[in-house]
Amino acid sequence: MDATGKLLTQYRRHVGEFETVDFVDEQAVSALRTQLDVDVPLDLRWTWEYGSEVEELRNLYERGKKGQWNAETDIDWDTPFPRDEWFMPRTGAMLLPSLLVDAGVDDATCREAAWDEFAHLISQLLHGEQAAMQLCGQLTNACPTMDAKFYAGSQVIDEVRHTEVLAKFLQRKMGTLYPIDPTLKVLLDLLLAAPTWKMKTLGMQCLFEGMAVGIFDQIARATSNPLLRDIIRRVQIDESRHAAFGILSMRQVVKESSPEELAEMEDFAFTVLETLNANQQLDMLRLLGPKYGLDPEVVVEMMLGLPEWPAINSELFMHTVVPNLKRLGLITERTEPEWRRVGMII
Ligand SMILES: [Fe+2]
Ligand SMILES: [Fe+2]
Repeated sequence: MDATGKLLTQYRRHVGEFETVDFVDEQAVSALRTQLDVDVPLDLRWTWEYGSEVEELRNLYERGKKGQWNAETDIDWDTPFPRDEWFMPRTGAMLLPSLLVDAGVDDATCREAAWDEFAHLISQLLHGEQAAMQLCGQLTNACPTMDAKFYAGSQVIDEVRHTEVLAKFLQRKMGTLYPIDPTLKVLLDLLLAAPTWKMKTLGMQCLFEGMAVGIFDQIARATSNPLLRDIIRRVQIDESRHAAFGILSMRQVVKESSPEELAEMEDFAFTVLETLNANQQLDMLRLLGPKYGLDPEVVVEMMLGLPEWPAINSELFMHTVVPNLKRLGLITERTEPEWRRVGMII
């Protein structure tokens, strides 16, 4: 992070007024991917209070226990997911097929682009699930109350199941697994290595769980394939419980924090999501665009120039993350103009 609080400054470039994060250096990308060890300072905390101190958290834990499902036996894996059929709308749901359909490219190529982009998206979600699994394991150590330890412990098995189900979906139905995007790797490492359980909870449980809820909801609404819909709906129900855990524990944290600590959390939330937003899918476009004759920079320039870009771009952020952060008091008058400036709030 540099003095202005920005991440990945060496990969930033201006496209008009907008500042993108664009990894053009293949070596840097591969270095990030091969870096498997992350130094994580972790404070382990005992507690002797075995009774419930935060009733809402204990209720959420009870809900979590009842909501368990088996990724191997509760999913009907015999349901087909055919490569030669549209499983999402032709346009509006994904970037590559939308562009290709508009350009009059033949249907088979557009479908293939949809397949590739979707496998890439599910791969990124899968890597995110692995990070969530590891981070929740950390929270069982670091959270101070037994309620939070119980809940984080139950979330570990949820995240294991999500990792399992998405990996099996890619392996059995799509036949492809894409490596982690460099921007995502940097941000997940940042959360995993965050020094306190408060920052870890904010980063993973509020920011990334909130984003995941939005993405899963968009897929579940858009897809016409029953297998995919079933998997995503199941994951989505778990994720909304996780996002609720984030809100409940952060509400407590916010109550106990000084104005300086709150400002730090507010900046952290913006820094992480601004970086994700600055990528504008360039990591995906660098990987898949050329295969379909699309120049990543031209695509992003065109997207950013659309009059409806702020509306399209802010949709995912406005779905869950922004309302939750506002409710927590972690987007205030001080930072809200910044969120608007980069198109995350309209
Ligand atoms: Fe998950
Ligand atoms: Fe989750």
